[in-house]
Order: sequence, then structure tokens, then C-alpha cells
Amino acid sequence: MILGHVSRRGSLKTRDALLLLRCHRLRSYNTALAAPFPVSTRSGTTSRARRSSSLHSRWHLATQVRGAKRVATADLDDIPQGAIDAGVGKLPVLEDSEPEYPPLLQQVRNNMLKFSHCVLLTRVGGFYELYFEHAEEFAPLLSIKKSKRKTMKGSKRPAVSMAGFPVYQLDRYLKILVQDLNKHVAISEEFLNDASTKAKGEPAFNRKVTRIVTPGTLIDENFMDPWQNNYLLSIHVDPDILKKENAVKESPGSQSVSSVLNIPRTEVGLAWIDLSSGDFLTQSTDIASLPSAVARIRPREIVLDSIFEQKEHSRIVSILQEDGHIITFQEPLEQPLTTAEWIPMLEDVVDDFDTADFKPSEVAAGGSLLHYVKHQLLGSKTSLQAPVRHQSEDHMSIDKNSLRALEIRSTIRDGVYEGSLLHSLKRTVTKSGTRLLTQRLSAPSMSLSTINDRLDLVEEIIEYPQLRQDVIALLDQTFDSLRLVTKFTVGRGDADDLLELSRTILTASDVVNILKEHSKSRDAISIDAENAVTETRRRKCLPALTRRFELEKPLQLARRIQDAIDEEGLFEQHRIEDDEASEMADLAQDILGREAGEEDLKPMPKRIQPKPHMISSSVKSATDGRDDVWIMKRNASKVLDRLHDTLDAMADKKMDLEQELRRSLGAESLTLKWTPNLAHIAHVKGKDVSKVTSEYPKSLSSSKSTRSFQVPEWTRLGAQLDETRFRIRNEEQRVLGELREEVVRNLVKLRRNAAVLDELDVGCAFAILAVEKHLIRPILNASTSHNIVGGRHPVVEAGLGEQGRKFAPNDCLLGEEERIWLITGPNMAGKSTYLRQNALISILAQTGSFVPAEYTEIGLVDKIFSRVGSADNLYQDQSTFMVEMLETAQILKEATPRSFVIMDEVGRGTTPEDGIAVGYACLHHLYHVNQCRTLFATHFHALTDMTKDLDKLGCYCNDVAEEPDGKFSYVHRLRKGVNRQSHALKVARVAGLPEEAVAVAARMLAQLKPSTSPPPQMEGTHQPSAARQKATAA
Ligand SMILES: Nc1ncnc2c1ncn2[C@@H]1O[C@H](COP(=O)(O)OP(=O)(O)O)[C@@H](O)[C@H]1O
Ligand SMILES: [Mg+2]
Repeated sequence: MILGHVSRRGSLKTRDALLLLRCHRLRSYNTALAAPFPVSTRSGTTSRARRSSSLHSRWHLATQVRGAKRVATADLDDIPQGAIDAGVGKLPVLEDSEPEYPPLLQQVRNNMLKFSHCVLLTRVGGFYELYFEHAEEFAPLLSIKKSKRKTMKGSKRPAVSMAGFPVYQLDRYLKILVQDLNKHVAISEEFLNDASTKAKGEPAFNRKVTRIVTPGTLIDENFMDPWQNNYLLSIHVDPDILKKENAVKESPGSQSVSSVLNIPRTEVGLAWIDLSSGDFLTQSTDIASLPSAVARIRPREIVLDSIFEQKEHSRIVSILQEDGHIITFQEPLEQPLTTAEWIPMLEDVVDDFDTADFKPSEVAAGGSLLHYVKHQLLGSKTSLQAPVRHQSEDHMSIDKNSLRALEIRSTIRDGVYEGSLLHSLKRTVTKSGTRLLTQRLSAPSMSLSTINDRLDLVEEIIEYPQLRQDVIALLDQTFDSLRLVTKFTVGRGDADDLLELSRTILTASDVVNILKEHSKSRDAISIDAENAVTETRRRKCLPALTRRFELEKPLQLARRIQDAIDEEGLFEQHRIEDDEASEMADLAQDILGREAGEEDLKPMPKRIQPKPHMISSSVKSATDGRDDVWIMKRNASKVLDRLHDTLDAMADKKMDLEQELRRSLGAESLTLKWTPNLAHIAHVKGKDVSKVTSEYPKSLSSSKSTRSFQVPEWTRLGAQLDETRFRIRNEEQRVLGELREEVVRNLVKLRRNAAVLDELDVGCAFAILAVEKHLIRPILNASTSHNIVGGRHPVVEAGLGEQGRKFAPNDCLLGEEERIWLITGPNMAGKSTYLRQNALISILAQTGSFVPAEYTEIGLVDKIFSRVGSADNLYQDQSTFMVEMLETAQILKEATPRSFVIMDEVGRGTTPEDGIAVGYACLHHLYHVNQCRTLFATHFHALTDMTKDLDKLGCYCNDVAEEPDGKFSYVHRLRKGVNRQSHALKVARVAGLPEEAVAVAARMLAQLKPSTSPPPQMEGTHQPSAARQKATAA
């Protein structure tokens, strides 16, 4: 079935519109603030534009030369594209008498209609081309030349725009279109029609879209980020609930603000996959938690039911849009897929996939997700892992704002990875291990036994440095087998991938041996009675991991691969391909060089990635004077062995023939060879030239001193040699195919082994981190208290360390005695740092990592909430205070007695009176209603007086130590009590505010609060830098 789509482009003809009426709809909106693609700003643009029309002809010329395919004419318009047939179009006949497009353009037009939501790339020989409005729109964005092409001689139609790039640059331009511009790209390949089809009047080439690439459906594209999952997410929610008139009544005016809190509580189903690794997960959640769940998953693309395009249902769209997600709308299936219908798209093991477990909303989300994927892959098979339910109650939920505020995966300021928690923690050595680390850090565990298992592993690895070293060295040699095996399931995967996979399997087996040896030596020592329980438990962690490896069959596969593939041959083949690629690049550069600036030339790869089709395409009929290069060892199969014997025998025959000819003709210089132009020839030089003329009077080419001529025996033998070579190539491909199948047969085991390796990688990473950063093992329990002694902020500490400064540790004792700590103190004294470090310690502990503290005992936290900093959202028409209140509302509505909340300077975006009132209300609500652990930092000292009657609220502060000479330093260490001094003017002065302004501020401050605070000492004339230095020394 072919789906069609309504285009958003306005330029469709009536005829096109007709066709579309019957079509399904699938629209893609880019709601992200797409990174503006840097359109090149080189000089001389105009002159190059003027010359651009000739470029295309020449590019095409290059194709013709390289492929030696068909007529090599200089003018593209003259290149025949098959019979021109008026009946080609499957479209309704035009009413006017205008002639159809020629076949190529007609095929392009049809494909553009069928896949109107996509950018269409059409393969034409060695190029991918954009035509019509796509060329107009995207050529400038891709920085490629646009030219015009006449439709047909004498046609009334205007010339058609076109633009293109060489095939080997596909990845480069896909990256721009899909990743930078968030477009859907339909790739149309070229298929040679056979004679009988052509006889029916079809054109010589047929062009079919074989795949649609979207941001969420990348499989093995080279530009994919190997360190991150590439998730596609489908969200299912009852559309009626989201209708505007159903906004929660208690919040008047709430219709104008898109917040999940204004939507009646309802269940939401989520399903997401990573096509590159086969991960498939589902979750059922509440609408209020949706933004946080989506932030955690961090999908590259979201699929929504097309009903949400309608204005009255669009609230969820605006909520997701605000967070910059890319949304694709999909017309729902009349009959949604049942879980039983998922099975054909999953790997072969379905026994641990219990369809009854899934909630209806998850089934709906999963069904629409798989429907979408099926459509984008256009029938090519996937083998996803059996779906796993992400149970909200099994994981600590880090709300959207906390993910951002705590800088878990990227920094607040620039949104970059460097400087984030993940960046400072990452000691994993494998790519998939890093993906697991990210997943765990974004969704820490709520299960004491899971956390303790992970901590046991870390502790065991810490205790045995040699084990750690050995395992890491091995892990470092593995390849990303999750993504590798996926290539095979979609029918890709080449000889190199097979080798990488086999090495990974063999390495995994080495890992197992090391682990087994370790366990053996551990068992030999008896357990100390003092800590028998923990020790016995810990000893079990490595054997438990070891047992999960399934290596028998995979090892057989690995050995088969190693026995079959000839690494040296493969290496040699790559060298040849490299040469060809650089030849091709030189050719393209040659063409471009005349048209473009130097910048265009730089990104051209010297190396074409070896793809399966490359292996066969570089098969030459003869060896071109080179030695044969084979990628398989000759005993990879019986047939191969026999064929090689035959080939050897023929090579002997050739030598004999050569000797025989030299002898009989008396021509010592005679050689038998093959040349691209003359095929199989005999060649002589010098005085031998005259000796052969009588026997072989017909010469194919000759010069003064050389002569080439045909020898029938050699021509015959040469043909046989070629035939044998051809059969060897075929047999090699057949064996390769067999090995590929074998990989797919081992899919489940390979994936399971990969998962164990990832866990080991994360375990080792945490162990290294603990040793490096002096972390300790946290104790977790089921209480609702925090008992952290000497806690530190892992990232800030590292930053200070780089400057040779020390971090002052702080305790955090929340629970029965004091549930809320209200923290006051000067600016820059470390309040915000303190708040964050305690949230982070909880997250690290529940992730299964050691933590930066002297001692830590923490009751499990179900949700972490943060209200910190001011994140303006002005483009969404939300003031600082509105954002602050939206985030606060989320906390007050969602936090449970098991939650952990940090609130930093709530009430800043409004008047002090309003701010204090709102701050008080928050404390009051958190204390009486939510009853959660809370750290609350504020400059409103009045709050400490207002909350005197809250028994379980403790007041703490940090300070400034002033010295007689006017210098001061921060006391980062918290003490009990209230600090009514913000010392803001000290910071102002350090920051370099003009002295006059500081003096005015000091006078005004004295007027404003004469009773509570004496005017700060402003007499000192110390240098700001000295003050800063002093401050840092505290
Ligand atoms: N415990 C600490 N020990 C040492 N330096 C600290 C500590 N806490 C914070 N700092 C330093 O002080 C700076 C300001 O901290 P911050 O938490 O933003 O202060 P506040 O929120 O009180 O204004 C941090 O960037 C860090 O360099
Ligand atoms: Mg602060």
C-alpha cells in the first residue's frame, strides 16, 4: 500500500490535488527552533551563481565517465532517459494538451506527490538530485549549485530547477537535512528495468523510494551520535481530555497558559524505540508527569495522532513545542495494532514478552509507533528487542526542570555537554556503556536491591584494581555490538561489521574468563565473620553477571567469521576503494574547483564507507593488471576452495601458454595481459615486434617498439579466468550472506551479551570515578530522611580543584527532626551549590554510584524537584515570574512525602512583598501538605521570622568573614541560624560597580533598614581582585 501525503507547499497543480484527495495524511512540523543552518557567506556568490547553470551538465558528465554507463555527452539535456512515453504517468490525464514530463522528471514528480511531506532525493547515476521546488528551496540551504533543466524540446513547460551531489556525499547532506533542518527525507533509488518491462514502453530506469529518513528513524547513518540514544517517541492520550474547554476549572484563565497542570488528570501512554540499537520501551504515566517523562527520554522525534493538529486539541502540542520537540502527525489506523501484531517487528524471542502486562494506552502508543516505523522503512524488516515496560514506580523521577537545573546531561547556560554532571562522571570506555550510563542517570532506581547490586559491583571492582584494569582494557577493544547487529537485521552489515562483531564476541569471552578466575580466587579465601552478610552478598555480584553471558553459539559464529574473512584481503580492498574514492573526489573537485570556492572542497571524504553494494560494484571483470583481491579466505567454503584451485590451475595454464608462445615465436619479451581497452592481449616489445608479425599479422595497437595482438588461446583462457573470478566473487557474497544470516540468528544472544558488557562498563566507570574523586558508598534505606555528612558538589569541586581551591563540605540532615532547611546568607556564599549538591547526591546514590561525602545514609527519593534560577521564556510570552510560578505549581502539586525539593530564591521576579508572601505560601504548603524533604534558599530574611511556629523547619546560613582591614572571605560552611546580611554590595564592588554607585547604594541601604543592619563597612579601598582572591581562600 502506498500512502500519500498532503503537502504544505502551496504549489500543487489541480491534477496533483486530485490525487491527494484519496491520500492519507502525514505531516511533519518542525517545532524546534531549528539551529539556523549556516548558509555560506563566501564572497563572489553572484558570479558563481551566474556560472552555475553549466555545473550540472558537467557533474553529470562526470557520472557518465565514471560509471561508463551510457552516452557521454557534454549536455545533460541530451542524455536519453529511456523512451519518452506519453502514457507513463499514473496520474489522471491533464485536461490541457501540454505534454507530460520526460520519464525521469515524471517519476520524480510522482514521488514528490506520494511523499509530499518529504524532501525527495533521486538517484541518477552517481548523483542524488533534487528537482522542482525542492531544488529551489534546499540548494541554498545545502550550499549546492542549482541549475535549470529544459523539460523537453518544444515544451511549453518552464525549465525545471535541479541540484545534486555525488552519491558518496549522501551522509553529509542527510545530516544537514535530517539533523540540522529536521526534515523528512525520501530516498529514491534507481532500478534498471528489464527488457520485457522496457518493451511495454516503460522507461529504462525505474525510481522507487526505498526509505524515508527522519530525525527519529536513523539506523546506521554515520552522522548519528554514537554516545546517545536516538529515540522516536509516540504519545497516546485521549484527545477529548485535551479540548480547550476541559481546562481545569480551579485555575481561572488557565486556557491561555499551556501547562499540563491545567489539564484534567488522565493517563498517558508512551512508547519509544531506538532503531539503531533495537531498544523498545513503553510507559504509562500521568499527564502531569508527561513533560518530565519526555525530557528524560529526550526523543529526536515525537509521533502524535493527527487529531492534535486541530486547534481545539492542540494544547499538548504547544506544551511539547515549548520544549523544542519535533512533532510528526500521523493519521491513525482504523484498526490500531494489537500487541500480537507487534510480534513480526520484534526479535525472535517473545516468551518473555507478556502482552497482558501492557496498559491500553501503552498498547495504543506502541501500535502507532510501529505503524509509523513500518511506513518510514517501506517494508524493510526490523527486529526490535521485546518491549520493556518502564514502570514509573521503579524509578526516581527527575522532573524536567531538575534535569535542566541540576545540569545532568547538559549545562543550563549553553546547553552543552561539557560541564554537565554526565560529562564529569563519564569514565565509561564504550559507546553503548555510555548510553546506559545516561539512561541510568536520567532515571535512577527506586529498588533497594537493584541499587545495592550495582553498588556491590562498584565496590568489588574498586577493591581489585587489577581486575578493573584488565576488564577495562578488554572493553576498550569491543565494538558497539548493539548498533552493529541492528545493521544486519535491516539487511546491511558488511565484512568489516562481521569482523568487528566477531572480535567483540571473542573479547567478551576473554572478559568471562577473567571474571571466572577472579571469582575462583575470591572463593578460595574464607569469609570474615565480622561482615559476613555484606561480604557474601558482594561475592555473588560478579558470578551473577558472568552467568548472564551466552557465548557458546556466538563463539561458533565468531570463529566462523574469523575463519572465513581474509582480513588482509579486506584491507587491500579498502585501499583500492580508497583510491577509487579519491579519484572520484578529485574528479568532483575538479568540477567544483572551477565553480566553487576552496571551502566547498574541504569536507569531501577521502574514503567511501565500505557498504555491501560497494563490494560488488568494485568487482572488475578482470584484474586490471593487479593481483586478485579476495575478501574471503579460500577455504571459507568448499565451492570457494574448488574455484580457487581452478583459478590456480588456469594461472598455471596461462604461464605455460606464455612460455610456449615465447618459445615458439622466439619472442622473450612476450607477455599475456589484460587491458581495459583491448581486453586479453599478447604484448611484445623491441626486436620481438618483427618476430610475431608473420604468425599474428593483425595488430590491435602498435608503436615503433611495441605491438599488441590477440591470441585466440589466451582470449579463450582469459574468458575462463574471468568466469572463474566472477564465480568466486559470487561465492564470496553467498558466504557473506550466510554469515549475515547467522548473525541475525544469534541476535538475541548477541544483544544480551552486549547488555552485560554495558553493565560492566558502567560498574568499572563508577569504580574509577570513586577512586579518583574520593567517593564513598552510600547507604540507602526505606526511610524519608537525608543524613549526609561532609557532602560535596562533584562538578563545582572539580572546577575549584582545577584552580587549586578547596571545596568546603557541608552536612544535610533532613527527616524526622527537621524536614525543611531554610537557608539564608550572603550572595556567593554557596547556597545554590549546596541545594544542588544534595539533590545530586541522592541521584548518584540511586543510580548506583558512590557519592561525594564522608558519610551518607539516605531514604529513597521518589521524585526530585527543583525551582532554581530564572529561565526566561519570553518568546513564549511568559515572564520570569510566570515561569517561576509554573515551576512552583508543578512542585506543590506533585511532590509526595518521599520527594526531595530544592527551591532557590522563589519570589524573585516580583516585588519584595509579593515575593515574601509567595515564598511563605510555598513553605507553608510544602510543610503541611507535601511534607517532603526541602531545602529552601532565600534572601527574604522575613521568612525565618514568619515560620517560627513550624517545628520541623530549621534555619541555617552561611556567612562572610570580615577582617579589620576591610577584606572579607566567604564562610561556605553552613551553621545553624539566620543571616540577615546579604552583603550584596560587597559582591557589587567585587564585580566592579563604580565606587560612586556603591556609595549611593550603601547610603540608601542604611535608610531602608536602619534597625536591622548597620551600614556595611565601605571604607576599605582594597582592590577588587584582592577581595576576590581572599574570598577564594576561605
Ligand atoms: N562549599 C563550597 N566550598 C567552596 N566554594 C564554594 C562552595 N559553595 C560554593 N562555592 C563557590 O562559590 C560560588 C558561588 O556559589 P553559589 O552557590 O552560586 O552562591 P549563592 O547561591 O549563595 O549566591 C560557586 O561558584 C563556587 O565557586
Ligand atoms: Mg544562588
